[in-house]
Amino acid sequence: MALLHTAPAEAHSAAAEVLAGLDPTRREAFGLRLDRWYEDLISGLEHVYPEHNCAALALALVRHAAAAYRDRDPELHRLDEARLLRPDWLQQPEMVGYACYADRFAGTLAGVGEHAGYLEELGVHYLHLMPLLRPRDGDNDGGYAVADYRTIRPDLGTVEDLRALATTLRHRGISLVLDLVLNHVAREHEWAVKARAGDPAYQKYFYLYPDRSLPDQYEQTLPDVFPDFAPGNFTWDEDLNGWVWTTFNEWQWDVNWANPEVLLEYVDVIFFLANLGVEVLRLDAIAFLWKRLGTTCQNQAEVHSLTQVLRAAARLACPAVAFKAEAIVGPRDLAQYFGQGEHAGRVSDLAYHNSLMVQLWSMIATGDVHLSASALGALPAIPTTATWVTYVRCHDDIGWAIDDGDAAAVGLNGALHRAFLADWYSGTYAGSPAAGLVFQHNEQTGDRRISGTSASLCGLATATTAEDEGLALARMFLVHAVVGGWGGVPVIWSGDELGLPNDPAWASEPGHEDDNRWAHRPRLDWALAAHRTDLTTTTGKVFQGIAHVSRVRAALPQLHASAPSEVLHGTDPGVLATLRRHPSGVFVGLYNVTDSWRSFPVARLAQVGITTPFDALSGHDLAAGFDGLVWLSPYAARWVIDGG
Ligand code: GLC
Repeated sequence: MALLHTAPAEAHSAAAEVLAGLDPTRREAFGLRLDRWYEDLISGLEHVYPEHNCAALALALVRHAAAAYRDRDPELHRLDEARLLRPDWLQQPEMVGYACYADRFAGTLAGVGEHAGYLEELGVHYLHLMPLLRPRDGDNDGGYAVADYRTIRPDLGTVEDLRALATTLRHRGISLVLDLVLNHVAREHEWAVKARAGDPAYQKYFYLYPDRSLPDQYEQTLPDVFPDFAPGNFTWDEDLNGWVWTTFNEWQWDVNWANPEVLLEYVDVIFFLANLGVEVLRLDAIAFLWKRLGTTCQNQAEVHSLTQVLRAAARLACPAVAFKAEAIVGPRDLAQYFGQGEHAGRVSDLAYHNSLMVQLWSMIATGDVHLSASALGALPAIPTTATWVTYVRCHDDIGWAIDDGDAAAVGLNGALHRAFLADWYSGTYAGSPAAGLVFQHNEQTGDRRISGTSASLCGLATATTAEDEGLALARMFLVHAVVGGWGGVPVIWSGDELGLPNDPAWASEPGHEDDNRWAHRPRLDWALAAHRTDLTTTTGKVFQGIAHVSRVRAALPQLHASAPSEVLHGTDPGVLATLRRHPSGVFVGLYNVTDSWRSFPVARLAQVGITTPFDALSGHDLAAGFDGLVWLSPYAARWVIDGG
């Protein structure tokens, strides 16, 4: 029986020309994908480029995709098949992630491969290596100023080393995740070099202005990402004799996605990385991709159409590759990155749950879940195919993305609450055990973001008594249990598993002195890591606690990420109670966010169908007292399932 072709005949013949040398089965498989994804491709293009010939653009993309498909390694083709057979691979409860800089973790790419066993001890199946493509010399924003997308930082290894590492990891069940820095390139990138030399084709790759008139108009509504060390969003460039759009640092030039040539360039970068064996691409700073006068130039509708186009192109050539949106935006905008309305399920597969992360720290600081329960409960639904990346903290600072409306809904003032959180986590609030650092104090808005490892935010670094250390350790376990029990891929940031404090020498490396995010990007201390199985040490307690969360998760089908977490209301305000209803069983997470004993009524568990409560984290039945209450010690975490 012939299948109905839904992609135009021209697209099929364009693909057939490129694939002429392949065997018929492989050619046919591409044709099937073309019929599946063409609509996503063309509708996205038509939204973004109404003035261009989109059918011709789609054909160009199909040719690029077919070439990448033709050149893809047979083992990666098998991986594509495996992923197509298990499209929910990222949603599996055993998915646990780890993020690090290759050099700070293990020196080189080869070194990372040698430490795969360490990652396995933590239950890791997803490894995000921070930017490792060749950046500009000197300060490069931790690699986020890419000078060449097709070479590797020489001190880390070569392109072949990256391919070898991806293969080693894959053979051990670990998917390699890399950044796709697609909002900007380094001023030293070839495109920018040519633009500076006066090449008009490459000048169209950027946003260039001869004078301040447009930049000044844009500035009226643009926020400042680095008000401290890179104020403003435009930089004067002598070579250009003009202004260039630089959202981040002055040597990070925003690329102009309104130019379809830029799209074609990045599609090829995607295929290059995919064919090396990269399995997840982190779409860096994706929110900033489209500019529109009179707006913040974030979260514009075109961003989602562009993502849809990129994803459709990747689905054609390398469907094993998933996209992760790095959109650190307010709670209302966040769900857009999984697609809402016409884009539902057609954009990113993964996105950072920034709201959960911020609310987590807010609950710990206040010992109260009202705001978080209300704000998390107000988040829009996401497609069942979408997966959150849940995290305690990452390589970036924490910005207090508390929505004013969410705060007002529970009688709080947003600005005052954000100020409180900055005070608490910088340790200036009386009684706070936290030892974070203020990052990018914005004099105009009063915003103060915070840098810090999870140990320093939980008070482990400042604990001087056994009691304080016990509380800090309980907080460490609690925060990891919340992100592990939410549903999605919990990602551990390197060093947190050993309870590493902020690096006191963070400013001593050239280029890092102004950027205290380096305080929470410590070099992994392998001497300390040697104690990770010794439960008499703090290191051992932290490591084994986090590894335990991963192990228990892996055995709980209830944590499949297709089911959403809801927040239960109306119980002790010191206990976050989450409910997940998955066909394989009901799951209730109970998290005491306070330093005192708190309770939860066992009757609420029966109401959601748990008649024989069993705590998967402790491996014990959950006993209620004669008062009908389950009592939770300070910062205790329980993962309740039905043990009947
Ligand atoms: C992302 C990265 C951050 C970087 C910025 C600019 O937000 O996480 O570290 O500074 O993009 O590339």
